[in-house]
Amino acid sequence: MSLDLFDEAALHQPPRVEQIGPQTFVLRAFALPFIDELLPPLRALLKVAPFRRMVTPGGQTMSVALSNCGALGWTTDARGYRYTPLDPRTGQPWPALPAAFRRLATQAAALAGFADFIPDACLVNRYVPGARMSLHQDRNERDYDAPIVSVSLGLPAMFQMGGLQRSDRPLRVPLLHGDVMVWGGIDRLRFHGVLPLKEGTHAVMGAQRINFTLRKAG
Ligand code: SIN
Ligand code: FE2
Repeated sequence: MSLDLFDEAALHQPPRVEQIGPQTFVLRAFALPFIDELLPPLRALLKVAPFRRMVTPGGQTMSVALSNCGALGWTTDARGYRYTPLDPRTGQPWPALPAAFRRLATQAAALAGFADFIPDACLVNRYVPGARMSLHQDRNERDYDAPIVSVSLGLPAMFQMGGLQRSDRPLRVPLLHGDVMVWGGIDRLRFHGVLPLKEGTHAVMGAQRINFTLRKAG
């Protein structure tokens, strides 16, 4: 995988930490030093559990395609949102959480003030141009003590970080290849979403954005 000059330069920068809430942080370029360790296992897990578009309980097919790795995977169908140990497509366990994913998550969480974060679930989202995710809270996890660590790869996206009420006006946070967001504690249930992805082609990832979100679900 070749890096473009900006990525190459960013590899040697310390992460820039932006605090956008009491316990919400954007760690700029944090994932870039991990990238060569992330992409091969990402490709491998997608062979076992390919991206698929799921249906919400309300009957809408999501514009984002998803997969999972780790002991638990997030799924949705007509019966609701939930975590399952098996991929409903195959009846097999989700692929194991790659060690580099876990390491990245633990280190990013620590930098944001959340010590000893050990994720057991990783939702992998694929956005093509036009795909979006409407404002929602992450609330299918068993408890809300652990933070959320969210890694952006590929095309830039406009992330929306709202408040604890759906009606709170969201902040717009541009997320670039390699950026990591961490939120938890009193910010754990903030509403968030992603505006429709703009057309483009990323030098490393192509015409898509891949986001993976590490959580402690069980
Ligand atoms: C999510 O909330 O699961 C996805 C967030 C993102 O794609 O940045
Ligand atoms: Fe979410």
